[in-house]
Amino acid sequence: MDIGTRRLRLRPVAPADAALLRTLDADPEVMRFVSGGEATPLSSIVDWVIPRSQAQFREHGTGLWLAFDRRTERMAGWVWLRLPRHSAVPELELSYRLARESWHRGLATEAARALIDLAFTTTDTGRVFASTHPDNIRSQRVMQKLGMRLATEGLRREQFDDGFTGQDVEYELVRNDWVRNRVPGRHAATGRHHRRGDPGTVGMPA
Ligand SMILES: CC(C)(COP(=O)(O)OP(=O)(O)OC[C@H]1O[C@@H](n2cnc3c(N)ncnc32)[C@H](O)[C@@H]1OP(=O)(O)O)[C@@H](O)C(=O)NCCC(=O)NCCS
Repeated sequence: MDIGTRRLRLRPVAPADAALLRTLDADPEVMRFVSGGEATPLSSIVDWVIPRSQAQFREHGTGLWLAFDRRTERMAGWVWLRLPRHSAVPELELSYRLARESWHRGLATEAARALIDLAFTTTDTGRVFASTHPDNIRSQRVMQKLGMRLATEGLRREQFDDGFTGQDVEYELVRNDWVRNRVPGRHAATGRHHRRGDPGTVGMPA
């Protein structure tokens, strides 16, 4: 499903996007708090990132969306709503990664907000959470601007084999808080246990 926001068009990642993802992850500054600066191997993108996203889109309607700047048509980066592997409750993990030329414009917040609205309007998720390195202040500012609250400090990182020995912080937005704070006129949420019908384009024309 494509999603439109004021400045971005989001579309699900496809196999042909591997080179775009590889270029994004080749910037050590982008990868600083993700992998300690290491580029992601193309094989991980081709064999893991894209297939996993595609499987989750098929089965749950969520995955990795590439974000394109409406003004330049260039890829600004991506946002990902991921079904955690070991969750006992309905919850979704949010992450985001932008190319450096797209930083400091509030684009991560804009894209992530669209996904959070999607999560709470089209799935039964009880919370959306996101985690990052404690020194990644930019990322935590995005979480705070999204209305997320610090949930856990000292979280062991499972996802990335990056030599990071510290512990992540985790922020969360629970459904009740999202309902309480949402802007009037946005989609109403009615919780259910499965993905609801595909609403097509969310927000603005994609
Ligand atoms: C984290 C990231 C997505 C932020 O995207 P962005 O669109 O630039 O975010 P914003 O423009 O909304 O800026 C985020 C906030 O960080 C603040 N900020 C920017 N640089 C900062 C710095 N060096 N120190 C502290 N705060 C900083 C900004 O002022 C802004 O807060 P504000 O709106 O209150 O002023 C982007 O930097 C990125 O892709 N980084 C690499 C990948 C990554 O770390 N992803 C997150 C891993 S979970």
